[in-house]
Amino acid sequence: MRKKVTVVGGGFVGSTTAQRIVDAELADVVLTDVLEGVPAGKALDMIESTPISGADSKALGISTAGGNYTATAGSDVVVITAGFPRKPGMSRDDLLRANYDVIKQVVEQIVKNSPNCILIMVTNPLDAMAQAAYRLSRFPKQRVIGMAGVLDSARMSSFVAAELGVSVENVHSFVLGGHGDDMVPLPRYSTVAGIPLPDLLPKDKIDAIVDRTRKGGAEIVNLLKTGSAYYAPSAAVTQMVEAILKDKKKILPCAAYLEGEYGIKGLFVGVPCKLGAAGIEQIIQIKLTDEENAALQKSAAAVKELVGVLNV
Ligand code: LAC
Repeated sequence: MRKKVTVVGGGFVGSTTAQRIVDAELADVVLTDVLEGVPAGKALDMIESTPISGADSKALGISTAGGNYTATAGSDVVVITAGFPRKPGMSRDDLLRANYDVIKQVVEQIVKNSPNCILIMVTNPLDAMAQAAYRLSRFPKQRVIGMAGVLDSARMSSFVAAELGVSVENVHSFVLGGHGDDMVPLPRYSTVAGIPLPDLLPKDKIDAIVDRTRKGGAEIVNLLKTGSAYYAPSAAVTQMVEAILKDKKKILPCAAYLEGEYGIKGLFVGVPCKLGAAGIEQIIQIKLTDEENAALQKSAAAVKELVGVLNV
């Protein structure tokens, strides 16, 4: 039997994620939104594309306006994208309270209908929302994962590949920390065909890439004007979903609940995680220089502040 993935939130991130999962035939997908008609229309459109893509995955779109989540029951993975997007000039953190209220209702329903699922949080501010979902769901920590490290690393890799004029397949970038302006891209651990980035690019070029990576989300918001990025975010989620559903044991940077790793306790922060059928199966710890560690602790402190506001 095919696996089942629910994507909560039929906006650009949610619907593009659903489409990528269907196209890759990873699972049958239920796309939900509080709007009437929109999720059903998007899912139907996806299904009508499958004779061309050749994917036999099914897509179903439902409105949860009445609070009915029964169509999502028994999902293996639930991706939560619902919430308000960033507007130009708005920080991810401004979204905090508004999106917490959204998440609260959604998580309650998801837990009721899919008590054994793995939750992937995408709604911003990402790390705080992952922490909220962890507390609200009372799931074991292995089954609540925040998305953003894969996205931030992909952004960095795209900039590195463009700067060096090499294949994106050659580049592995490494970004730790929260999905905020204090995220921690680590050039020393970022490689091109196995060669550390500092051996290939001068410091000023690396600094520019690090800076652009940190502001990658805002760069797109400023261009789009009426929403935030969705192609790269949905690709990132899909890679995580694939690692889980295929039990790939793939090491990907994800927001995970830390209990002492990297000297951080009781907080979701982005670190390298091994993703498999059980969710986060291992947190990989690497040695950081004092400077890198200070940057990670600063990023964690920013997450802690948000989490403190929500009291989660
Ligand atoms: C981004 C927003 C979605 O990074 O956080 O694109």
